[in-house]
Formats: sequence, structure tokens, C-alpha cells
Amino acid sequence: MIRPRSPASARSKEVGTLRATVVVGGGHALAATAATAGCYWLLANVRRFGQGNVSTLLLQASGIVALLWAYAGLVLGLVISIRQPNRRGGRPRRMGWRPAVVTWHRQLNVAVIGLTLLHALTYGIGVPGGSLLVALVPWTAHVDGLGYTLGVLSLYLAVLLGPSYYLRRYVGRRVWLVAHQIAAVSYAVGLWHALFLGSDLRLEGLGRTLVWITQIPLLALIVLRLRRPLRLSDQLSMRRRAGRFEEPRHVALRIAVAVGLSVTGLIVLVMALVALAKGQHGTL
Ligand code: HEM
Repeated sequence: MIRPRSPASARSKEVGTLRATVVVGGGHALAATAATAGCYWLLANVRRFGQGNVSTLLLQASGIVALLWAYAGLVLGLVISIRQPNRRGGRPRRMGWRPAVVTWHRQLNVAVIGLTLLHALTYGIGVPGGSLLVALVPWTAHVDGLGYTLGVLSLYLAVLLGPSYYLRRYVGRRVWLVAHQIAAVSYAVGLWHALFLGSDLRLEGLGRTLVWITQIPLLALIVLRLRRPLRLSDQLSMRRRAGRFEEPRHVALRIAVAVGLSVTGLIVLVMALVALAKGQHGTL
């Protein structure tokens, strides 16, 4: 017989979970700070062109680490929503590692917002010629307007559709889940912005090469997520669903998955091809 848990033990479990989240979150914040400092050092000492002042280097380092973290968050998000191949004998494989990876996915997304805010504020307050208006309001830059607007949109999409996880008890789990399917677009738009405005990723060299190489596994995961979703109700093929899951809530989620992942996949593919193109020195 399963005994109901007493309110005291439920409370102590909640406090334990909160404590673990704070400890892991603190560790993660330290890791993101160390990565930004490391990237700053590399840009200041190893890069092949222009040294830049402190704020320009911080702008670039925080942008690069934000994009890396967003990439890692998206990769983990896709991995936890893909159905694993069955074991021999056709038995489904256990995914005991899933809860830990879900936690990492969430924490990476929260860190992306911190890093992007640092990046945007460095531009708005620290960089000569930068402005808070351009850093926070789309279509306010007179030069390279699209590049800045893409950055601002990426930030807002990440804020609205990522950590809203923590508000799902207010907005409703289902509404959150549908909205979250569009969150991947935030990474794609951030990548577009980086290739449009960045120095290290836009100009031909190691940065640009890494950009197109790293998009290949991401595109493969997007295709797998569309073809082998963990939840059978997300399966786009009616034949594989055997005609089930036709209620409006399932249809809404499938539409969100299809739109979110195809828009992301398309932008990522175009950006990978742009980064791969030879002879595109300094242009998108
Ligand atoms: C919120 C508004 C944003 C503003 C105002 C902004 C501003 C800028 C600027 C001015 C640059 C050019 C730096 C240079 O001189 O190389 C840049 C580059 C970059 N940004 Fe942003 N950005 C924003 C959002 C984002 C977001 C959301 C991401 C990614 C998640 C991102 C990632 C990058 C990357 C990777 C670079 C390239 C750095 C390099 O190549 O050295 N930015 N951003």
C-alpha cells in the first residue's frame, strides 16, 4: 500500500529541491562567467585582427558565449524530446538520464538570458556609439538596422518562451508547452544576428568555419525530432500515429512543433550555407 506523504516531508523535499537548484544554478552562473572571461582573454590575446577596447571585447565575448550556451541548450532540448531506438527484442529503452538533462536544458536557457543582457547592456552603456534604445527596441538603429533588430528579437523570444517554464502554473502547462516550441527560433535568430554584425564569426576564418560545422548535428537533431518524437502525439505522420491524438490540444501542439522547428531549421540551414560560402569576406 502506498502511504500518502505527510505535509512536513513534502515541504522538506521541496526545500531540498530548491536548495539543489540554487547550488547547481550558482555553479552554472560561475561556469558561464568563467567561459566569458576565457573568451575575453582569447579575443584579447590570440585573435588575428584588431584588439578592441575593454567594452568591445566584453561585447564580443558575452555574445559568443551566449550563442554557445543557446546552442547547447537547444541541443539538449532536442535530445530529451527524441524517442530513443528500442532495445533488442523491441522493448523501449529507459531514459534514466532524462531528468538530469532536462535540468541542464533549463539552466542553460536561464544563463543565456543573463549573458545576452550583459551583451546588450555592454553595447548600450559601454561601447562608444552604442545606445540603450538600439539595444532594447527593434528597428531603432540607423545603420545595420536588421542586424540589431534580430539581436533584440532573439533576446525577447528567449525571455518570453524559455524561463516562462517557471510560470507554467499561472499560464497553464499546456499553453506553456505550445509556446515553448517556438523558443528554438530564438537561437536561429541569434545566429543570424551574429553572422550579420559580429567580427569573429562573420569574417572568414576559424569562427566562421566552426559556425557551419556545428550547425550540421543541430540540423540532424531537428530532423530526428520531427520524425521520431518522444511523445507519440507529436508525430506529424498520421499513418505512424495510426490516426490517434486528433483532439484540438494535440493538434495545437503539433502545429507549434512543426512551425517552431521548420522555421528554426530553415534559418539555421541558410546561415550554415552562408557561413560555408567562400569569398564572402565581411558580408552576410
Ligand atoms: C539584445 C540585443 C543585442 C544587441 C544590441 C547586440 C549587439 C551586438 C553587436 C553591436 C555586435 C557586434 C560586435 C562586434 O563588433 O563584433 C554583436 C555581435 C554578436 N552578438 Fe549580439 N546583440 C544582441 C543580442 C544577441 C543575442 C541574443 C545573441 C545570441 C544569443 C548575440 C550573439 C552575438 C554574437 C555571437 C556576436 C558575434 C561576436 C563576434 O563575432 O565577435 N547577440 N552583437
